[in-house]
Amino acid sequence: MKKNITVIEGDGIGPEVTAQAVKVLNAVAARFGHAFHYRYALMGACAIDETGTPLPGPTIEACLESDAVLVGAIGHPKYDNDPTAKVRPEQGLLKLRKTLGLYANIRPVAAYPALSHLSPLKADRLENVDFVIYRELTGGIYFGKKTLNEAKTEASDDCVYNREEIERIARPAFRHAQKRRKKLTLVDKANVLETSRLWRKVVQDIAPEYPDVQVDFLFVDNAAMQIILNPAQFDVILTENMFGDIISDEASVLSGSLGLLPSASIGKSAALFEPIHGSYPQAAGKDIANPLGSILSAAMLLDHFGLPEEANVVRTAVNWTLAEGIVTRDIDQHHFHYTSTIGDVICDYIQHNAPRPVNRKNIAATSSTII
Ligand code: IPM
Ligand code: MN
Repeated sequence: MKKNITVIEGDGIGPEVTAQAVKVLNAVAARFGHAFHYRYALMGACAIDETGTPLPGPTIEACLESDAVLVGAIGHPKYDNDPTAKVRPEQGLLKLRKTLGLYANIRPVAAYPALSHLSPLKADRLENVDFVIYRELTGGIYFGKKTLNEAKTEASDDCVYNREEIERIARPAFRHAQKRRKKLTLVDKANVLETSRLWRKVVQDIAPEYPDVQVDFLFVDNAAMQIILNPAQFDVILTENMFGDIISDEASVLSGSLGLLPSASIGKSAALFEPIHGSYPQAAGKDIANPLGSILSAAMLLDHFGLPEEANVVRTAVNWTLAEGIVTRDIDQHHFHYTSTIGDVICDYIQHNAPRPVNRKNIAATSSTII
């Protein structure tokens, strides 16, 4: 299989984690006889520094011409702390989502037994936690009309949804539920919001087309509580843009490390894959960031290309490193390895399709002792 991938490394730790994902994709390509061709493009703070805009035209063109986009991380503190900044790195990401028509953001949440001690939840609550959030990504309050009066004393953000926007994300969410435990939970605020009542109506209308899927509805405040109280009850969660933003961050900490979670955004053209963590500027350039979120995003990219066997090899390799304790500092403060070492170990596994006897001394040679 031949595919073109646009790589947007972005800011902070973006370049170093993305480099591991590309390495892993190359190992997969070599083993299974695929050809992945990469084009690098700018977005975020680095793009503002170089071109004055967070999403330069050539980046949009590259994305539109490719089969998939792999993103590292976007953001820099010099913009976060300046509320008057006219251009912001995040604007690049929002514009790219809109331009590529990426209306569905898919975030799987799983708990890894080897990491349960790092989770804020007790181990017994983490058993069987395995769900996926479908967050609407190009509508709602994020993209509605915004106003600020002249005196700057009153502001508004419109939240608008139409039937088509809801259906086009609800359908893939239902289909995904059919392949999983066949349960779909719509998270909304239908006791208060008109848009939420429309979401419920549309989901109820199309539910009979998926008779094997059990549908239930939860108000977002209750959902926020249930994700902590009993996260194992969820299978597929479907929700609008801002509720999805909030509950997916909440859910992301269950696994024990934010550094591990991947995401996919699908829509009208090239799909986009990115870890859900931020640019973690304090760690940039130190080779200490966790590359697994980016590597697992590459696995989702392989799924999207219709290569489930390849994707599963990557996931098996990742699970093996976690079980063996071959991890970065966010997971084990005492015995940790470099970002690039984790990438190498995973590539080695993929190349040989098996864990090779781990020469702990060799790996230890690249263990950081400096921090
Ligand atoms: C995310 C992020 C973005 C969002 C920000 C950076 C605009 O938080 O991908 O979840 O709110 O969508
Ligand atoms: Mn977010």
